[in-house]
Amino acid sequence: MDRQTVKERLSDLAEMTERALDRYIPERECLQKNVILAARHSLTAGGKRLRPALVMEFCRVCGGDEQTALPVACAIEMMHTFSLIHDDLPCMDNDDMRRGKPSCHKAFGEANALLAGDALAILPAQIIAQAGLKGTIPQGAALKIIALLGEQAGIYGMIGGQVIDTENEGKRLPENVILEMYRMKTGALLEFCCRAGVIAAGGGAELQLAAGTYAKKLGLAFQIIDDILDITADEKLLGKPVGSDAQSGKFTYAAAVGLDRARAQAAQLTEEAVRALEAFGDREFLTGLTELLLERKY
Ligand code: IPE
Ligand code: IPE
Ligand code: MG
Ligand code: MG
Ligand code: MG
Repeated sequence: MDRQTVKERLSDLAEMTERALDRYIPERECLQKNVILAARHSLTAGGKRLRPALVMEFCRVCGGDEQTALPVACAIEMMHTFSLIHDDLPCMDNDDMRRGKPSCHKAFGEANALLAGDALAILPAQIIAQAGLKGTIPQGAALKIIALLGEQAGIYGMIGGQVIDTENEGKRLPENVILEMYRMKTGALLEFCCRAGVIAAGGGAELQLAAGTYAKKLGLAFQIIDDILDITADEKLLGKPVGSDAQSGKFTYAAAVGLDRARAQAAQLTEEAVRALEAFGDREFLTGLTELLLERKY
């Protein structure tokens, strides 16, 4: 599939996601409306919407309907946005821009950013459970997806990775520890997306395993490129500060091995990810998307 077609399909899936996200957290007059506005500020700011695309596409390539997976796609975009809001806080990366807008705490203050993040971490399980109760997703699948969400977002997943990242500011880490941290902080939510898509379609253990292998490779490549972009990108295009990692003393993979070796490693991981997709029939879009992410500028 050529690049243009990949971009068009990604943008169609993003539009579907954004329409649904808008319905999940509508603007509403109430005493606590600031938390709604803060959540919407970050959630509706754009972003690549990669994670929802992965959920819906893995569902489709396993014989499901992408519409079935839409609640799960929205749920993970909320969880991801929660991770970004908290990641930007002064006690973490202390970044003032996100998705081309002031970070949530810059626009709404730290307390509301903290609480908007909390709300976006709690809503996902509610949304997936409701999809199960309504029968949009089979109930057994909904339960499995909620359990997987806790696993991948929690102490042994994204949160765990963020702890290692924060605790080791200013320290040189061995390459294998850096990669283990990336597997957790970035790879885990991507793994959720791919495996949850398979589960929503009723796909078996073998397909879930292949989806997990793909996501682990993609996750490492994705974070390595993110680190490279933190050094080399055009800030306007990136939508978040350039040089943030160096400023907060993060010893990234790119800093550890240099830009050239980091680029080569990301390219190799991308190849391995593409190879893991061979377990899936109609994989043209996923292949093109994986390759596009290697070349991304933001
Ligand atoms: C940024 O993720 C945080 C990382 C895990 C590297 P994205 O690069 O997917 O951010 P958005 O969703 O496009 O804003
Ligand atoms: C973020 O890593 C991983 C998350 C779980 C949010 P970064 O701190 O490098 O992400 P950006 O560069 O701020 O998006
Ligand atoms: Mg961070
Ligand atoms: Mg950050
Ligand atoms: Mg970064």
